[in-house]
Amino acid sequence: MRKPIIAGNWKMYKSVKESVDFAKQLNEKLKGIVDREIVIAPTFLAASSVIDALRFSNIRVATQDAHWENEGAYTSGISPAFLKELGVKFAILGHSEKRQYDNETDERVNRKLKNVLRNDLKAIVCVGETLQERESGKTENIIESQVKGCFEGIGLGDLSNIVIAYEPVWAIGTGKNATPEQANEVHAFIRGLIAKKYNAEAAGNIRLQYGGSVKPENIKQLMAQPDIDGALVGGASLKIDSFEALVKF
Ligand code: 13P
Repeated sequence: MRKPIIAGNWKMYKSVKESVDFAKQLNEKLKGIVDREIVIAPTFLAASSVIDALRFSNIRVATQDAHWENEGAYTSGISPAFLKELGVKFAILGHSEKRQYDNETDERVNRKLKNVLRNDLKAIVCVGETLQERESGKTENIIESQVKGCFEGIGLGDLSNIVIAYEPVWAIGTGKNATPEQANEVHAFIRGLIAKKYNAEAAGNIRLQYGGSVKPENIKQLMAQPDIDGALVGGASLKIDSFEALVKF
């Protein structure tokens, strides 16, 4: 059984104070929920204070990136070793906004993923095609090459610490979500890639999140799909009632 995982990616929203206030309110609303994993990814700046505010909570804290080295002359770099020390549990890697604005590549995601895992953190690895790629029938090629690049040299034993998020770029922040069937089709394809590279058991165990305009109104239908195990949510994770509804889908 794959435990559902609902994650809120707050992107560059919510100041430190707002993040802490929000996390505290969320904690009250989501107390005692153990049949699904709940993750929030605030700004790096707030990771420490949010973790303090969530002591003994069932809500886990993620960051929105992490470096491929633990230390060094990398101005502005965020070391996974430092994140580990704070109590961060997950790092989101390869988000399409990082790919678009910060020239993130599969090769870099792969190096980051290896270092995140070495530091005993879990990773949410994002993949997804653009509208143009979808319309020209290249979705599967793109997803395959992203998965291949990101998972280069990743061992079977590491898969339990990795979640893959399928986030079609055309559905992010556009209000235009993939239909549950469209999303599930790509998820099933990704599971097939994992089966081919590793084995059927690993493919059956790895958790796959969908992201892109997930809202309280559509999460139930998405989660009802056989290959969708969770959601990575941007906009709709920024309001208490909405995030509560998403977690309690
Ligand atoms: P939206 O939910 O705002 O479409 O964002 C999705 C996303 O990018 C989550 O990482």
